Amino acid sequence: MSRLPPLYRPELLSPADRERLAQVLARIDEAADRFLGYPCSGRFDYTPLYPFLRYPLNNVGDPFVPTTFAVQTHDIEVEVLEAFREFTRAPRDGFWGYVTNGGTEGNMYGIYLARELHPDGVVYYSEDTHYSVAKILRLLHARNIMIRSLPGGEIDYEDLHATIAVRRDVPPIIFANIGTTMTGAVDDLARIRAVLADLAIPASYIHADAALSGMILPFVDDPQPFGFDDGVDSIAISGHKMIGAPIPCGVALARRAAVDRIARAVEYIGTLDTTLSGSRNAITPLMMWYALRTQGTAGFRTIVARCMDMADNAIARMRAAGIDAWRHRNSITVVFPRPGPAVIARWQLAVHRDIAHLIAMPHVEERHVEALVADLVRDRSQEGKS
Ligand SMILES: Cc1ncc(COP(=O)(O)O)c(C=O)c1O
Repeated sequence: MSRLPPLYRPELLSPADRERLAQVLARIDEAADRFLGYPCSGRFDYTPLYPFLRYPLNNVGDPFVPTTFAVQTHDIEVEVLEAFREFTRAPRDGFWGYVTNGGTEGNMYGIYLARELHPDGVVYYSEDTHYSVAKILRLLHARNIMIRSLPGGEIDYEDLHATIAVRRDVPPIIFANIGTTMTGAVDDLARIRAVLADLAIPASYIHADAALSGMILPFVDDPQPFGFDDGVDSIAISGHKMIGAPIPCGVALARRAAVDRIARAVEYIGTLDTTLSGSRNAITPLMMWYALRTQGTAGFRTIVARCMDMADNAIARMRAAGIDAWRHRNSITVVFPRPGPAVIARWQLAVHRDIAHLIAMPHVEERHVEALVADLVRDRSQEGKS
């Protein structure tokens, strides 16, 4: 570490600026206690990692390849990827991945690989797909067709079949939702593969967007198919969702053979350029590593089971209050009719058309659910009066 004093240090902050920081912290602290609509866990304590914030860390380049840039955490990143390799049942040899800035980057990576492998391929994705995917498709100039969704949020397999059937000359690139944003619906990979088999498609690619459910399904007894052994070629999982982190993060996992096609040696960093961004976060791999080491698989099974119980608790409370709430199997996303704007704003509920959801993340407590249901009941009676 440099022997020179840091340029930015506490004693240089004016009292007014200190006060400003205190105000922002207080605002965040208050908001974090009514945070029910978005899948970002707020239950962590990363204090042992604070000393790492003193270094200009950067995980630039391929985590698996030695680099000239030594102020990095590639070794820790590889251990995180190894854990995800097991969760997603990827082959030990022939697997590759890196820690991303979140689900969006992992999805972009998957579609990028698919398009490089199949330049004339068409991406098929359901109308319940996360909004960022349409932007990714535009950025990558990837040919694409949106497929209808079934009422619960899964892709409509008949529409998928009919749509691919008229374009059998180009490889289908399936963007499968392993847990949709609004309802947590899981596209059935077996049915998707059956569609491809029925149409005798010789070459295809399946990318799985498992932003939230990628850290749920490995820890339940009867998961829907979602892994490499179920036929996916790449997977994106968010780290700041189920694991929880103050910095957005995630993993992109893919088959090594596909990644080798896009790898480029770069003398400047003395390693391979296989990732989307150049400079990469070296702190978030530490956070994911710490979370995985402190909880282990058994810990995450307990965490996920508690979330499922909390989701059921919310459904039971809502139904008892006459609110039509439901969830999909193995999902912690509780769907209910869209309430008025005051309730949406108070509990930071995500809404789409006529539905809203609560996501029973690890930080959600019974008192939150109780207070939300009371607000929903009040909201409904006020609506009746207006
Ligand atoms: C299904 C799905 N895919 C992708 C994303 C985007 O992930 P991120 O916010 O980590 O970039 C989300 C975010 O909620 C999501 O729900």
